[in-house]
Amino acid sequence: MKIRRAVIPVAGKGTRFLPATKQVPKEMIPIINLPMIHYVVEEAILSGIEQVIFVTSSGKNAIEDYFDRNFDLEDFLIKNGKIKELEMIQQIGKMVEVTSVRQKEQLGLGHAVLCAKDIVGNEPFAVILGDEIVRGPNPVIKQLINVSQQYNNANVIGVMEVDPLETYKYGVVKGEFVDKNNKTMRMTDMVEKPLPAVAPSNLATPGRYIFRPEIFDALKVIPKGVGGEYQLTDAINLLARESEVYAHVFEGQRFDTGNIEGYLNATVEFALMNKDSEEMMRKIIKEKVEKYKIK
Ligand code: UTP
Repeated sequence: MKIRRAVIPVAGKGTRFLPATKQVPKEMIPIINLPMIHYVVEEAILSGIEQVIFVTSSGKNAIEDYFDRNFDLEDFLIKNGKIKELEMIQQIGKMVEVTSVRQKEQLGLGHAVLCAKDIVGNEPFAVILGDEIVRGPNPVIKQLINVSQQYNNANVIGVMEVDPLETYKYGVVKGEFVDKNNKTMRMTDMVEKPLPAVAPSNLATPGRYIFRPEIFDALKVIPKGVGGEYQLTDAINLLARESEVYAHVFEGQRFDTGNIEGYLNATVEFALMNKDSEEMMRKIIKEKVEKYKIK
């Protein structure tokens, strides 16, 4: 079955980026000249998604505005002969159909996804975190859709290998591999932010999922979990008892742009990966290495 919709929760407070996030949504903080959310929505579009559903909160209007047309700016650019810039912003305004729903209280990621239930309706959908970017030749959501279709439209969680000492930062999965390449496992359990000593594996999700609509039934009944929040992980565990859930080790490089270190890492690497900025960044790095005697 075709996956047409992606839910992108962006209602969080972004406390790790304060004070910037006092006024600017974290997802609008740019990496070079594109806001984080641009990369995430691009992944959805390249995966065949037709409608993006943002789960937002107060102060997040800039995200919806970014994907809308801005006729004042377009007029200004026309009058000033800035045709390249005009085409660029018109293109963003036409990228994808955008809808939004409010999460009035930030009660956790599970609660945020549940807020999108009425818009999603009774069909499978993707969930993509708005502050995690994965880059590679094959968009992650597309990889997960392929796995889902291979296993009779099952639920699929995108996972990656993480440092075993850092499992406490993620949802970590347990299961048995079902393919000969050891890329796809039938998931039996998922633990939210386990300490390394009790982590069931070092395969963790950076927030890429394909769900059947039954996830909403699970989200409605879970109690508050880790951190006093409604955890998506708890609903996935409930779902795994009644329905097949697979975890797939995706291909691609992941950047956790929701924290300062990951953000800096993405900024430097994206600049090096982009032909327009590569030379600039190489020069800057070279100068800094000499100036600060970095070894
Ligand atoms: P984070 O854990 O990164 O939370 O949420 P946050 O509020 O964005 O950032 P910090 O930790 O305070 O710095 C992961 C994703 O889930 C969304 C966030 O917007 C982010 O994209 N989220 C989280 C919601 O939409 N609602 C919630 O209640 C919690």
